[in-house]
Amino acid sequence: MTLLTGDSALLMPWHGPYDMILVDPPYGDTSLAWDRCVPDWPGKALAALKPSGSLWVFGSLRSFLASSAAFRNAGWKYAQELVWEKQNGSSFHADRFRRVHELLVQFYRDDTPWRAVYNSVPTTPDARARTVRRKHRPPHMGQIDAGHYVSEDGGPRLMRSVIPVRNAHGRAIHPTEKPVALLEILIRTSCPPGGLVGDWFAGSGAAGVACRLAGRRYVGCEIDPVMAQKARDRIASVLPLGEGISP
Ligand SMILES: C[S@@+](CC[C@H](N)C(=O)[O-])C[C@H]1O[C@@H](n2cnc3c(N)ncnc32)[C@H](O)[C@@H]1O
Repeated sequence: MTLLTGDSALLMPWHGPYDMILVDPPYGDTSLAWDRCVPDWPGKALAALKPSGSLWVFGSLRSFLASSAAFRNAGWKYAQELVWEKQNGSSFHADRFRRVHELLVQFYRDDTPWRAVYNSVPTTPDARARTVRRKHRPPHMGQIDAGHYVSEDGGPRLMRSVIPVRNAHGRAIHPTEKPVALLEILIRTSCPPGGLVGDWFAGSGAAGVACRLAGRRYVGCEIDPVMAQKARDRIASVLPLGEGISP
């Protein structure tokens, strides 16, 4: 578990190659001192990622529309997106709805086929007993191998793409801290056990905590030395997978 202090575009490439890269970047949307766009991270992150790896980015549709050319030009291909639903949130001044969600978008290298990208299919234990027969496979959804499937009560079900997780308001050490439970889902899905996660804008180190709990290795980078030390202390206070007290 390593937490570097400095500019991630300079430091992070030296600590790869990564199995998964996580990016929760400053978008320059607010007046917070650290919220200044870092323009050159997409190309450097791509060069530091294993071919079987993928990139998860936090943002809003506004930020993704503004940066879509930068992703494409750096060699990233869009894979899929998730919606993180929060119990409360903060809106921009022109919003007409209370904003309680954030997007998470997964990208992979455009020189690698999607089937070669590591992906451990996430499930939740809430299936209902039923047998579903597919007479016609919908052509627009790609190849589906089984013609039917049987599920049982409480069995595994493909995780839904809208994920409700409480945000860290009230106990956060960083103004835009992400919940460990949400990060753990991404990490378990996209990084093999024991693999290396690169967290390019570490903030509170929440992703480092998630890596400890999930048994993945972690390199994070934070430009603010005070926050970097808080993140280091926080990660160090969590027992690694397998070293907790057994029930
Ligand atoms: C959106 S916050 C990340 C919050 C984090 N995901 C968490 O859960 O706590 C972005 C962080 O990137 C840091 N930052 C800004 N520019 C940076 C740079 N060039 N290199 C590394 N960190 C940077 C900021 O200080 C800020 O803490």
